[in-house]
Amino acid sequence: MKDPRIREIDARGYLKRLGAMIDVYTAAMDPPPEQLPGRRTIMERHATYPAFRAFIAERRRSVVGFVYGFHGEIGQWWHDVVYHALADLGSGQADVWLANPFEVAELHVHPAYQGRGIGRRLLETICAGRPESSVVLSTLDRPGSRARRLYQSVGMTDLLTGFEFPGGGPRYAVMAAPLPLAAKASTPKSA
Ligand SMILES: CC(C)(COP(=O)(O)OP(=O)(O)OC[C@H]1O[C@@H](n2cnc3c(N)ncnc32)[C@H](O)[C@@H]1OP(=O)(O)O)[C@@H](O)C(=O)NCCC(=O)NCCS
Repeated sequence: MKDPRIREIDARGYLKRLGAMIDVYTAAMDPPPEQLPGRRTIMERHATYPAFRAFIAERRRSVVGFVYGFHGEIGQWWHDVVYHALADLGSGQADVWLANPFEVAELHVHPAYQGRGIGRRLLETICAGRPESSVVLSTLDRPGSRARRLYQSVGMTDLLTGFEFPGGGPRYAVMAAPLPLAAKASTPKSA
């Protein structure tokens, strides 16, 4: 099967494709259906955040994966929740990682296309050339999951684990890496 094409879309193109992206999100994450309208509202709002950028993976004009993110700053819900949780630890991590962060808000690949390098290409593409000093995100706290392994492989480390966002729900890991991302460590072909 031919590799899907990765391309950037502007905020208008992003809003036009929200339905297709939410379909990918639903297939990848299997969220409770009643959460989808709220997810859509959040995604619409994110398009107005500073330095917003989005990329899609496209196959025969269908969205099979997407990533988007923006400059994280005070006053944004995720930024403030994570900042205060890190500040409460008293280790100085909040100011190290959230002084000038690029926040990756969503990265999903349709299950039929997972495990073929698309998620990695989307993540590396959106992080390339960002002006911020760190990349931060939260992901379900499932050790060994594709997402956790992908993020670890580009140098992301755990800032918080088993973290419950206000309002309840599953536990998350909050991860971060310095920008630019580290090149993926190559695996020796033979010992
Ligand atoms: C996480 C996700 C975006 C990764 O995209 P992907 O296209 O499937 O991942 P890739 O093929 O680029 O693989 C990335 C890494 O995941 C890991 N990985 C791949 N297949 C794996 C598997 N079966 N089990 C565990 N880890 C695996 C590897 O470390 C891989 O790196 P490699 O390229 O060196 O092999 C995608 O799997 C997904 O949408 N998952 C469900 C939703 C989700 O968790 N999104 C992230 C929310 S923050």
